Amino acid sequence: MGRIIALANQKGGVGKTTSAVNLAAGLGILGKKTLLVDLDPQGSATSSVGVSKKAQRFTIADLLIGGCRSDNAVIHTEFQNLDLIPANITLAATEFDLIEKEDAEARLRRILSTLRDDYDFIVLDCPPSLGMLTINAMVACDNVIIPMQCEYFALEGLVQLMTTIGQLKRRYNPRLVILGILVTMYNGRLALSRDVLAELQKHYPDRVFHAKISRNARLSEAPGFGMPVYYHDDCSQGAKEYLRATKELLERICC
Ligand SMILES: Nc1ncnc2c1ncn2[C@@H]1O[C@H](COP(=O)(O)OP(=O)(O)OP(=O)(O)O)[C@@H](O)[C@H]1O
Ligand SMILES: [Mg+2]
Repeated sequence: MGRIIALANQKGGVGKTTSAVNLAAGLGILGKKTLLVDLDPQGSATSSVGVSKKAQRFTIADLLIGGCRSDNAVIHTEFQNLDLIPANITLAATEFDLIEKEDAEARLRRILSTLRDDYDFIVLDCPPSLGMLTINAMVACDNVIIPMQCEYFALEGLVQLMTTIGQLKRRYNPRLVILGILVTMYNGRLALSRDVLAELQKHYPDRVFHAKISRNARLSEAPGFGMPVYYHDDCSQGAKEYLRATKELLERICC
């Protein structure tokens, strides 16, 4: 049965999608059959793996509300062991519609239960909010990875996110475990980055991934080419660091 991992942080632009795409593709490269699920109306994960946001027949919105069969929305990407359930802007209305539905927070869990036997991993890219889509991800997943930039307000946001995850765990999903905090866009030459990292390590000593992701141009270019960074420039620092993070993810699961 595949393990479901959500990339979540209510703060925008911290590297959720970049991490979801490159961890999912990294798992694929390491031989794990992986499904990437785009849960963001922006559809950035969808276009980051070369799938048009406009052309899909079925998206995650059709599964959450329309009751279409889960496997109808799965797209095989051109990348190793990597499938996708896409999203586009229609998901924004879905989030609103979901609120009125019975069992609204458990819809994604039900959808993925019919797919998880087909995969080693299912990776969820959450939107930048703690709304119904992120709640669905938290209720459906086994693990959360929190991508975080080492900036001053990041720590405040992290406390709020940890509190919310704790509440959802108690109420809906007792097996939910935070796999780790993944530092993104790290710049060790900045005192602020170093200070925030030190604070993080002090407060959450076992939670911070040893693998840090530096700011790297190849990582920001790759989505424009519709490919995970390994296929854009395998020798780049971004590719090496995300592959290291993927290996650490596997180690953390085994512990
Ligand atoms: N390590 C990195 N180095 C350079 N650029 C990066 C890196 N990680 C992410 N970016 C860029 O930063 C921007 C935000 O990243 P990303 O889209 O992954 O964040 P997000 O948390 O998913 O954003 P949102 O909250 O809007 O969904 C993007 O333009 C992305 O290409
Ligand atoms: Mg995103």
